[in-house]
Amino acid sequence: MDLTGRDFLKLLDYSPEEINYLLDISARLKAEKKAGSKDGKPLHGGDFAGKNIALIFEKNSTRTRCSFEVAAFDLGMGATYLGPSGSQIGNKESIADTARVLSRMYDGIEYRGFDQEIVEELARYSDVPVWNGLTNEFHPTQMLADMLTIREHKGDLKGLKLVYMGDARYNMADSYMVTCAKLGMHFVACAPEEYWPNKELIKTCQEVATENGATLEFTEDVEKACTDADVICTDVWVSMGEPDEVWEKRIRDLGPYQVNAKAFSYAKKDAIFLHCLPAFHDTNTRIGKQIYEKYGLKEMEVTNEIFESEHSVVFDEAENRMHTIKAVVYTTLGGK
Ligand code: CP
Ligand code: NVA
Repeated sequence: MDLTGRDFLKLLDYSPEEINYLLDISARLKAEKKAGSKDGKPLHGGDFAGKNIALIFEKNSTRTRCSFEVAAFDLGMGATYLGPSGSQIGNKESIADTARVLSRMYDGIEYRGFDQEIVEELARYSDVPVWNGLTNEFHPTQMLADMLTIREHKGDLKGLKLVYMGDARYNMADSYMVTCAKLGMHFVACAPEEYWPNKELIKTCQEVATENGATLEFTEDVEKACTDADVICTDVWVSMGEPDEVWEKRIRDLGPYQVNAKAFSYAKKDAIFLHCLPAFHDTNTRIGKQIYEKYGLKEMEVTNEIFESEHSVVFDEAENRMHTIKAVVYTTLGGK
């Protein structure tokens, strides 16, 4: 398996074998990092010294940015962070020109922003690998972290039932649907029909699912969705870049799809809970407080009880962002 020079834009572009290979490399790099460097030798062999990567963030980030930076430093590489303000990108300089400039200076480019088409365009004009750090449509590095986490807790991924509750027409649910279809899992989107993934993507994923022995299901019925689930996951009800005006309707529409003890009562006893984070599970955030003051809600997409329960593996998942992002950088820049 050789992924040298490949972009990492969405998992639809990767075969099941390639995705499993990235998970295997992630597990190996994780074990190497846990073992620490030996006899003053660099971690992971040090073949990347002298390389540099650019990190473009048009939206905020904690996990993704830190993962790319730590991954780069662990591999002996440099990293430059270009935040939502302060660069010429999008204001005075087009994506095509940015790609051609950064390709002359860097060995790889990460992009987090809005439409998927932007990261696809960046990749078309770039001479070096481009990695998607989240768009409105997809969050592929998050999927590798989630699958590694599930694998660590459940073993083989094939045949597992993964239920996504809440806003199922955005980057996280779309990505889970693609990933489950590729890896032969049983994907269930549980949400009001208005929040199901778009029909075109469902059609594409249905074809992928058939090839890989996966199933896709869409339902408004929480009990039916969660019965015998191995994994229950959710995401915020309002994503980055969406206007504040949508909160009221989202709370009304998605309230019944909160991940709570009732939802978990239908699942397998050892079912796990995943959330890409950040999560609104209490009022200890500025937005969480504002929502409480305006709508009286103390927790949103997941109750604090489930977030803090033994089902919850969200901090394993957060840690795995780094190991899996490192695997993407490592393999696409020639690591084996
Ligand atoms: N899950 C995730 O992408 O987190 P950040 O927004 O903090 O990068
Ligand atoms: N759906 C969320 C995911 C954050 C990691 C967003 O796009 O804001």
